[in-house]
Amino acid sequence: MRIAVIGTGYVGLVSGVCFSDFGHEVVCVDKDPRKVEMLNAGEVPIYEPGLDVLMAKNVEAGRLSFTLDLAEAMEGAEAVFIAVGTPTRRGDGHADLTYVMTAAREIAQIAKDYVVIVTKSTVPVGTNRRVRDVVAETNPGLDFDVASNPEFLREGAAIDDFMKPDRVVVGVENDRAQKVMADIYRPLYLRDFPIVTTDLESAEMIKYAANAFLATKITFINEIASLCEKVGANVKEVSKGMGMDGRIGNKFLHAGPGYGGSCFPKDTKALARIGQEHAAPMMITEAVIKINEDIKRRMVDKLLDMCGGSFNGKTISVLGVTFKPNTDDMRDAPSLMLVPAMVGGGATVRVIDPQGRHEGEALLPGVEWHEDPYAASEGANLLVLLTEWNEFRALDLERIAKAMATPHMADLRNVYAVSDVKAAGFRAYDSIGRPGFSEAG
Ligand SMILES: NC(=O)c1ccc[n+]([C@@H]2O[C@H](COP(=O)([O-])OP(=O)(O)OC[C@H]3O[C@@H](n4cnc5c(N)ncnc54)[C@H](O)[C@@H]3O)[C@@H](O)[C@H]2O)c1
Repeated sequence: MRIAVIGTGYVGLVSGVCFSDFGHEVVCVDKDPRKVEMLNAGEVPIYEPGLDVLMAKNVEAGRLSFTLDLAEAMEGAEAVFIAVGTPTRRGDGHADLTYVMTAAREIAQIAKDYVVIVTKSTVPVGTNRRVRDVVAETNPGLDFDVASNPEFLREGAAIDDFMKPDRVVVGVENDRAQKVMADIYRPLYLRDFPIVTTDLESAEMIKYAANAFLATKITFINEIASLCEKVGANVKEVSKGMGMDGRIGNKFLHAGPGYGGSCFPKDTKALARIGQEHAAPMMITEAVIKINEDIKRRMVDKLLDMCGGSFNGKTISVLGVTFKPNTDDMRDAPSLMLVPAMVGGGATVRVIDPQGRHEGEALLPGVEWHEDPYAASEGANLLVLLTEWNEFRALDLERIAKAMATPHMADLRNVYAVSDVKAAGFRAYDSIGRPGFSEAG
């Protein structure tokens, strides 16, 4: 099959590469000349493990190419995927559909023969119908269908998630579009990965409901962690004991500094807005959004406490600034709130991140970028573990404690055992929802 993919971001590029690996002929198109230039030179503009190798393999096989020209990408395509951004609209929390609707209009201006226009971007309920109306208005004679095909991949594990999904969700209005979608995903269907076929609205809703549910689960354990801190319980033990219950499951039960990233913050806000508009308020989701903000603010207080009430004049080493490990994505990362609070409070902040510097330099002004956690600990007053990259999971704590001016650690991902930190010579340690320690002096 010939497929066009609009948008070569985290979702569009991974989808395009994986579709071409299924054996389809894929042309990916983006408006950003810098990205297309890099892709045509064999470089991957984002950090996603394994993507470079799979991309090179399929380009080499002649099944995958990149262009700025949508007409070229759509030549003979049976399906065109819209995988552009749907960020939060300024001011009102709605998903900004400008990019999606622009792409829909552009497709309509170019298409001549039957094509299925598939929205992969996360979009509010009703958007696929809007896409259909816009295409029909722009090109009244065109034979086409729309389909909703929300994406569930996780950055950092995107290829595996795309190639071995828990399910593929496809919303369609008729058998003709369903057949095209079934043909596209046949390689997964043949390997028994389930395809859930629904109407357009249900497919759109599944994506928001799934993300809001996951954000709720994270926020629930974060709130339990706050209570654990007050009553002397250990949230790691609590998560373990809860997660073994098959009805609950152990995923998304790790307490941390509040969720961030490219999806949960904007998708929870968008769902809350959809609920308000339809007089069916999403009260749980609204509470989750508020609690998550409170949790991030509490993290600032935690760090402040560990600095004796003031950041002024302190040297703080921050390990990890991306919103999670194995990505270079900084969108809505907790670091974007915590680091400016420390810099603004007068601290010298040293930052280390295996992939975050490229994006982070512009977003975190006033910090010193370092490569080596040991050098960055030299003379520091506080070490903050903010993103649990593997590189930070087995540090020589003794060496770090010796190098620091005041060996204090805030482990906001609960990576280290309290006993190990103490034995290494740290004099104060705090984490999330677990008893820490603090020795005077
Ligand atoms: N990032 C994730 O982990 C993830 C996971 C699941 C779903 N999603 C959803 O997928 C969608 C895309 O997310 P992303 O993170 O890949 O976005 P992104 O911002 O990384 O990429 C979007 C790309 O689309 C391009 N673009 C915009 N308008 C265009 C047009 N008219 N023609 C050609 N190119 C155009 C931009 O230049 C950009 O490269 C969003 O709706 C998001 O919610 C994202």
